[in-house]
Amino acid sequence: MLPKFSSKVRIYTLFLTVVLFGCQQQQRPNLQQQRSKQGMAVSAHPLASEAGLNVLQQGGNAVDAAAAAALAISVVEPFSAGIGGGGFLLLRRAETGTVQALDFRERAPKRAARDMYLDRQGKVRPRASLDGHLAAGIPGTVAGLYTVHREYGKLPWAAVVAPAIALAENGFPVSSRFTKAVERRSDAIKRNRAARQVFTRGGTLYRPGELLVQRDLARTLRKISQNPQSFYTGDIARAIASDMAKNGGIITLEDLKNYTPIWRNPVCGNFRTYQICAMSPPSSGGVHLLQILNILGDADLNKLGRKSPDTLHLLAESMRIAYADRAEYLGDPDFVTVPVKALTSKNYATLRRSQIQMSKAKTSIEVKAVDAQTLNRFAYESPETTHLTVVDKERNVVSLTFTVNGGFGAGAVAAGTGILLNNEMDDFASAPGVPNLFGLVGGEANSIAPGKTPLSSMTPIIVTENGKFRLAAGAPGGSTIITTVLQIVLNVLVYDMNAGEAVSAPRVHHQWLPDRLMVEKAGFDAATLDDLRRRGHVIREGEGWGNANAIVLTSDGWLEGAADRRGEGEARGF
Ligand code: GLY
Repeated sequence: MLPKFSSKVRIYTLFLTVVLFGCQQQQRPNLQQQRSKQGMAVSAHPLASEAGLNVLQQGGNAVDAAAAAALAISVVEPFSAGIGGGGFLLLRRAETGTVQALDFRERAPKRAARDMYLDRQGKVRPRASLDGHLAAGIPGTVAGLYTVHREYGKLPWAAVVAPAIALAENGFPVSSRFTKAVERRSDAIKRNRAARQVFTRGGTLYRPGELLVQRDLARTLRKISQNPQSFYTGDIARAIASDMAKNGGIITLEDLKNYTPIWRNPVCGNFRTYQICAMSPPSSGGVHLLQILNILGDADLNKLGRKSPDTLHLLAESMRIAYADRAEYLGDPDFVTVPVKALTSKNYATLRRSQIQMSKAKTSIEVKAVDAQTLNRFAYESPETTHLTVVDKERNVVSLTFTVNGGFGAGAVAAGTGILLNNEMDDFASAPGVPNLFGLVGGEANSIAPGKTPLSSMTPIIVTENGKFRLAAGAPGGSTIITTVLQIVLNVLVYDMNAGEAVSAPRVHHQWLPDRLMVEKAGFDAATLDDLRRRGHVIREGEGWGNANAIVLTSDGWLEGAADRRGEGEARGF
């Protein structure tokens, strides 16, 4: 697919800038890092990390704690993820040493159609895939958390749901991060009666420090605690389907009844002495994380220096290539053939590396996905979102990223349930080459079809060395997730940073289109940026993005957990 620099791209560029750079909080100066031996939970909100920690201290394992933290996030950070959304979970069980991946991503309803967001002229209707009930995919969070818990949890399901119920029922003081998120989506929230009731006081926005009680959500969570299936076939399902029918949505009782999470093989590959496992399609995260690491190959990144123009150029050019391939080849593997083996092959990376010139940046018009025949040659070689990371005392590891997509998802709540609906349908390509919320373009592989899963960038990872856990991490940030996780991997495994430094270090990002290198303001010196400009990079400086977290196992046996200084998360260990 040929990149076109239409005015639409420019509009989305502006939107992407607001999404990524406009929503950051005052960054915290200190490293949000903790060390412990027994177990640790890190999430984007202190109360969710606390929920995870309490469950670990009650004798729960990493699966119990991750489910508790995820459900708590649904209450305290509904704008980023929740039971009305979906996600991906990676689990490494100490007993087997294998990594499993659970896909509980939202799926397109049966009545979804390829052109559902186009007008009669074939143009994308502005915001049709972003606001309101029609933007929602079938939610998978409850089914996903229950599935992994039923198979691998230790504590009763009710014990795992209890902290979220308490937070919804008793309320919690909203932070300025929360109130700013409401403010940014206040138009959509105020338009939807149920959302207005939950997230405003009769239309007036909450101020930081005020208590938010979510009674409907508490009732819904109680039902889920007694019978998780009620979300898909019981009272809750009926409430969602009826609200959809009244508000122009297309999710039906049948869609909810048919939803099932899918166990998938993660994509795993070697980088230096490490084995890195990450989420496979329908996420693009794992494939392109490994692809970029392969392109970097054995470049002496230490010698080049982490913030040197050479390193940043190499990163940018590798990212550009990966995102060009993403736009062409990535989609739901149950609907299209995704050339995972080829894209993650070392030989393919060698070809791609040979196309990088160190003295000069390519323009994105020059960089294209290779044609299918060329890629095929490599196929048979020896494949607003939130993240949380949990490790227990047996060293079971959960790395979980889930989402409602854009801030406050569809900006609509299913009446009477307190469930905020996702706007994940926007992660499909509404039309070939038309950018989504994150400025990402896609083609045929990611077109809309009933039952299909929209392509994601979510990249939960688990890294081992010599069969022993070493690092788990992930991040929100739409299109930037892959490159954020990449830089955490390099920071820990190549630059030997501790967890706090690794998630907080300044970042860069390139996603092919729009053709510009995003760099974090004040993170890189002027001479470096000038050098990159001379090589042809179009530089855009911004406040920062990501809100990542990670847990590292140190060589002396400590769990070192850290949340990003860019957000309000915390690590909690014991
Ligand atoms: N909704 C963002 C992603 O899945 O990549």
